[in-house]
Amino acid sequence: MSLDSILSAVRGFYSRKDPGHDFSHAVRVRDTAMYIAAREGGNLEVIELAALLHDIGRESPLEKTHASSSASLAVTILEKYGYPEGVVSAVRHCIAVHSLEMGEPESIEARIVFDADKLDFTGAIGLARLFVVCGAETRPIYSGQNQSGTSGEEIFMHKIRHFPAKLYTRTARELLADNDKFALEFWQRLRRQVNISGNTET
Ligand SMILES: [Fe+2]
Ligand SMILES: [Fe+2]
Repeated sequence: MSLDSILSAVRGFYSRKDPGHDFSHAVRVRDTAMYIAAREGGNLEVIELAALLHDIGRESPLEKTHASSSASLAVTILEKYGYPEGVVSAVRHCIAVHSLEMGEPESIEARIVFDADKLDFTGAIGLARLFVVCGAETRPIYSGQNQSGTSGEEIFMHKIRHFPAKLYTRTARELLADNDKFALEFWQRLRRQVNISGNTET
């Protein structure tokens, strides 16, 4: 029952994911979640395990049902490595509700993992991940390109920009403010650039 065993077990699952949801994403979510937990409390073992395992069942970049498949896989792995029932069920809850569509995170641990995961879609790393998703799903980068599908710009403006209202912890909201400022400025600059180049194809 050591974290090293879990790390090597989950590394394999993440090696087959897109670069926006790979092992680095899990590690960033873990690090951000631990940063929030140091300020807001919660069981560190549960938070660390849940953050590392939260996306192991994901099959495609924007697929919505991966929270429950990840939760089931995580239970199997944690039971295999002999984690106590209390830890396994607390981790299962964190992972099962980490998606916006999957219900309300009830524990402090679940709220922290939820917030840390959303923060990884904000700021510079968030934009990089968004464009990876656009590439994987052949979506246009910005609106007005002659290409079908919801653009990265629309996903940002209609979903990611509204994350502040969804976050549960004060620390995450503080971290988000600066990330959000940068991302909004990025989109304003992109708009100026594509409008000047005449590259908007509407
Ligand atoms: Fe996820
Ligand atoms: Fe995630």
